Amino acid sequence: MPSKLVCMDCGREYPINAVIYTCAHCASLLDVQHDFPQTVSRELFDQRLGALDLPYSSGVWRYKELIYPDLDEGLIVSRNEGNTNLYHIPKLAAWAGVDTLYLKHEGENPTGSFKDRGMTTGVTQARVLGMDRVACASTGNTSASLAAYAAHAGMEGIVFFQNKQIALGKLAQAIAYGATCVQINADFDKNLELVREVSEALAIYVLNSVNAFRLEGQKSIMFEAIQQLRWQVPDWIVVPGGNLGNSSAFGKGLHEMHALGLIDRLPRIAIIQAEGANPLYKAYQTGFEVYEPVKADTIATAVKIGNPVSYAKAVRTIKWTNGVVEQVSDQEIMDAKALIDATGIGCEPASACSLAGTRKLVEMGVIQPGESVVGILTGHVLKDPDAIIKYHSATLDNLDATYANPMHPAEPSIEEITRILTGAREKAPVV
Ligand code: F0G
Repeated sequence: MPSKLVCMDCGREYPINAVIYTCAHCASLLDVQHDFPQTVSRELFDQRLGALDLPYSSGVWRYKELIYPDLDEGLIVSRNEGNTNLYHIPKLAAWAGVDTLYLKHEGENPTGSFKDRGMTTGVTQARVLGMDRVACASTGNTSASLAAYAAHAGMEGIVFFQNKQIALGKLAQAIAYGATCVQINADFDKNLELVREVSEALAIYVLNSVNAFRLEGQKSIMFEAIQQLRWQVPDWIVVPGGNLGNSSAFGKGLHEMHALGLIDRLPRIAIIQAEGANPLYKAYQTGFEVYEPVKADTIATAVKIGNPVSYAKAVRTIKWTNGVVEQVSDQEIMDAKALIDATGIGCEPASACSLAGTRKLVEMGVIQPGESVVGILTGHVLKDPDAIIKYHSATLDNLDATYANPMHPAEPSIEEITRILTGAREKAPVV
């Protein structure tokens, strides 16, 4: 049976090549549904490790049978995304309070965030559909990724930004990759509404995570992490939550792996939100009885989202995996980030929700010290240089520079430099 789009609530089906984002009948989100080939096995995916050529050299398309089985390979738009490292850093595990903590660094993707995994599938689908203009609203990373993949495919990329609070690295990328950048005096949530409306009127393909093909690519984070663990399932996956595309994709991917017998149990998923952008956390507190959007505000600008589009799919992920939702403060985010950065691997602020959230869930007794945890780092350290400089120079409003690594201004004098170098390490961050 060919792949199709299926409404997650009423089950109505649409052809795979329909330009549609939500159910025409009940307005709920759609899932891409595939008929997986019999050939899917751990061995098949292991044999492809080390492949030199696309598509199997990509950490998304290595799992093509699980991503888009019937797709003509010639249509794939890829920059060899994925293949990101799974770091084991005992110092950070000890700080979080667990014996086994891996951090999967999605900031190591071609444009510096996990969005590339969803953009390779999204832009590929745009090509399948014959679209030549693709658009998104973004807190920054989606737009950087869209701009790069659209350029790579020879399409026009269009990005809607709020005109304040976009991390510099992300804005610079979208401009550099040649996207049409529209700066709008509105927050992310409003921009997402606008991009959906404008795109419908102008026949532009929307590549926000409301587009189900984006999530198909992002599922591969789970496939790759578990393959890297020799197909051993960790007890927990801890992931930051903003628009909730990633957590939705994780639930779907794990569910499919389990149904196919690639794994024998599901990990539990913990979604971590910033306190100032926590609508899922608040709904979780009510047993998902009450959902209310919030006016978002957090230093982790990537997740500054008050009305996440994939809310319903994230709830499904929590239910499927017996998961939890927790929130962390900006102080906890920036302190966890400083510690991740100081191990030499670094990440952007939103990513640090994973480590901060793990520590909090251990303190609360939800994660047991003996359980294994895979935390997802979603973006690269260079995405938000401003936040780094301000934290370490103790100039962030209302936040302490707990683990500051301050600069040492010096005159060109051997005595002065010697004095600094004999005393400086005492001030460097210590985990
Ligand atoms: N971390 C980073 C670095 C992000 O850029 C995002 C989302 C998230 C976490 C949250 O992931 O939305 O799947 O729950 N950034 C989007 C953007 C919204 O526009 O770049 P999510």
